[in-house]
Amino acid sequence: MKVIVVYYSKTGNTQSIAGIIADKSKAKILPINLLEKKGRGTEEERLKEAELFQLALNTSENADLVFIGTSTSFKQPQSKIRRFTKSVKAKKASLFCTFTKDVGTTLTELEEILSENKIAVIGMQEFGGLKTGQLKELKEEERKKYIEKAEKFAEQCLEKIKNT
Ligand SMILES: Cc1cc2nc3c(=O)[nH]c(=O)nc-3n(C[C@H](O)[C@H](O)[C@H](O)COP(=O)(O)O)c2cc1C
Repeated sequence: MKVIVVYYSKTGNTQSIAGIIADKSKAKILPINLLEKKGRGTEEERLKEAELFQLALNTSENADLVFIGTSTSFKQPQSKIRRFTKSVKAKKASLFCTFTKDVGTTLTELEEILSENKIAVIGMQEFGGLKTGQLKELKEEERKKYIEKAEKFAEQCLEKIKNT
């Protein structure tokens, strides 16, 4: 069974959640942006990001399940993740996002794109209450809640594809 995790993260929250999901699913993890990039980034950084995007897209072909993760930006998914979702070719998808307090249409937009492309969405999970870069800084107890939630989400999604 081929399971992959593709994500966009600017300050590390979505990256942390993606890592937990990937560990739990024994999945390959594929970022499509560079965390440390400032503004539009250098020419070299933009080239690297284009490579990452293409690699994620190629790897998604024929995957049994792709987890797609994004941070929330102005109540929407990151535009690169929207673009990835439009072109992804996996058999099934699960969506997750991180946000502070207003998730807006972040996941529903992606769900709609996938449904138009006839890719079944078997799970959706929001991780709210996270200020930028906050997840790593949280106290052990608080962080544990996010870890457990992400692990449970991964387990439920895997269970669903096992039974199909
Ligand atoms: C430019 C910008 C816009 C944001 N817009 C929203 C928003 O509309 N709603 C919200 O709840 N959080 C918003 N946030 C907070 C992030 O979505 C949140 O901290 C997320 O966990 C960051 O994920 P990352 O660390 O993976 O980049 C915004 C953050 C930034 C920097």
